[in-house]
Amino acid sequence: MKEPALPGTSLQRACRLLVAFCALHLSATLLYYLAGSSLTPPRSPEPPPRRPPPANLSLPPSEQLRPVSAQPRTRPDSAQPGLCPDPSPLLVGPLRVEFSQPVNLEEVANTNPDVREGGRFAPKDCKALQKVAIIIPFRNREEHLKYWLYYMHPILQRQQLDYGVYVINQDGDEEFNRAKLLNIGFVEALKEYEYDCFVFSDVDLIPMDDRNTYKCYSQPRHLSVSMDKFGFRLPYNQYFGGVSALSKEQFTKINGFPNNYWGWGGEDDDIYNRLVFKGMGISRPDAIIGKCRMIRHSRDRKNEPNPERFDRIAHTRETMSSDGLNSLSYKVLRTDRFPLYTRITVAIGSPGS
Ligand SMILES: *[C@@H]1O[C@H](CO)[C@@H](O)[C@H](O)[C@H]1NC(C)=O
Repeated sequence: MKEPALPGTSLQRACRLLVAFCALHLSATLLYYLAGSSLTPPRSPEPPPRRPPPANLSLPPSEQLRPVSAQPRTRPDSAQPGLCPDPSPLLVGPLRVEFSQPVNLEEVANTNPDVREGGRFAPKDCKALQKVAIIIPFRNREEHLKYWLYYMHPILQRQQLDYGVYVINQDGDEEFNRAKLLNIGFVEALKEYEYDCFVFSDVDLIPMDDRNTYKCYSQPRHLSVSMDKFGFRLPYNQYFGGVSALSKEQFTKINGFPNNYWGWGGEDDDIYNRLVFKGMGISRPDAIIGKCRMIRHSRDRKNEPNPERFDRIAHTRETMSSDGLNSLSYKVLRTDRFPLYTRITVAIGSPGS
């Protein structure tokens, strides 16, 4: 039977028209989205709205500071002839960092002939912008140190820094005390040279971009902002662990670091608190330049999570003026100047001593 053209009542006709219109509209919308999604470049996943503060941190929100934008210190004399250009023209950007091949330190020394005994270097053709002591808290991590030296010496030379590498080796079997070892590194490095900047680095962290310069800024600098371990992002906004840089003035202003965090955790949060209480903010590289890799390892013996850490970081304001550089006591047992670093072995006492 032949279908009549638009049969039925006017009501039926209106219904048909409405259905047709809706179908048309729907397919147009679909098409629009399909086209739209294929035209926009693949987007990296949106940053999640805002994560709650981490379970391991308890800072009142009023005391949290926004990170200060990464403004390098511009000195009035930076144009003077002789000073190294900023940024260094030797930088190459992103680096491949992996830990599969074992490292031979003799070879590393041979491929870095300009590094002097004790792990010292200064650029030949220009005057470095800063004198940087790199302080590494250490115990029983020889393999990690080899990777660190292998990767870092070429990077630091390209950054045209006047630098020295100090490995502060905790003697004995007591719980590890990272922050105290860092204080010792500050004091001991200054006995050797007029450093104006101190980079405090864990032995197992390697930057993946040499534009992440190991120097100081007008605000304390956090360098390890984008670690593979944390999915290349900050675990929380106040995180100040891993690698950080403080000028001599910034470090002395906060009375150095705490001496009484024995075992793992919290000392970096205490340092963050000190900076905030002294009115400073944190400077950071962006998440691309700040990428870095951590060498995988099992937890060290004698570095158990410190059960006192939460209580301690809740009292930084009261304790920081009496616990730090002004209460630091230790004994240097020996100093070894190796071709690629200086190792200072120290007796640092025990909790409560
Ligand atoms: C919280 O976790 C970070 C990242 O592992 C660590 O550096 C910090 O010390 C921890 N803080 C406390 C109080 O446990």
